[in-house]
Amino acid sequence: MVEKNRQVKKGAVLLACTAMVVAGLAWAVDEQQVIESRQSNYRELGGAYKGIRDELQKRKPLMIMVRQHVDQLGMLAHSQANADWFPAGSGPEAGIETEALPVIWEQRDEFDRLREELNQEAIMLADVLASGDMDALADQHRALGMVCKQCHDVYRLEDD
Ligand code: HEC
Repeated sequence: MVEKNRQVKKGAVLLACTAMVVAGLAWAVDEQQVIESRQSNYRELGGAYKGIRDELQKRKPLMIMVRQHVDQLGMLAHSQANADWFPAGSGPEAGIETEALPVIWEQRDEFDRLREELNQEAIMLADVLASGDMDALADQHRALGMVCKQCHDVYRLEDD
């Protein structure tokens, strides 16, 4: 009887350990997905930002391309402000290569303010594009770029 109880207990402990390992693995995969998706999203944001700049540097910008990049930038800026690309645990402690600095989670309010600021600047960029004033568009594109820089200066690891 005692022996049987011990067996049952052993089984239960083993089961609990297995469950913990599986949960741990699922969590790690999750973190990897979170980090890799946000990096890929930021690369696309960077592509849209640069795409606008490249068009503006032409004597005759291709408006269809400008519009496409402004739209894409708007969607990504909206997503990075409204979806949580930085859940707790997705910093360097996840053990996955990331340039996100721990200070993000220590100064969450300021970080979130910059996320929303980028969103607002992107909305303004679309408004200015609709007005058709290309000089104003270049100014607004520059103003928006300052928000990228402001955030990177504090919250992103400098790697170059
Ligand atoms: C609220 C803060 C914030 C704002 C605003 C922001 N970024 Fe970033 N960006 C980050 C952080 C943090 C990372 C690092 C993410 C990681 O490695 O997990 C990053 C990474 C990047 C990367 C590298 C992605 C990769 O891993 O290949 C690019 C490119 C980038 N950002 C472009 C931009 C551009 C362009 C803007 C403005 C239009 C912008 N970001 C606005 C915080 C921000």
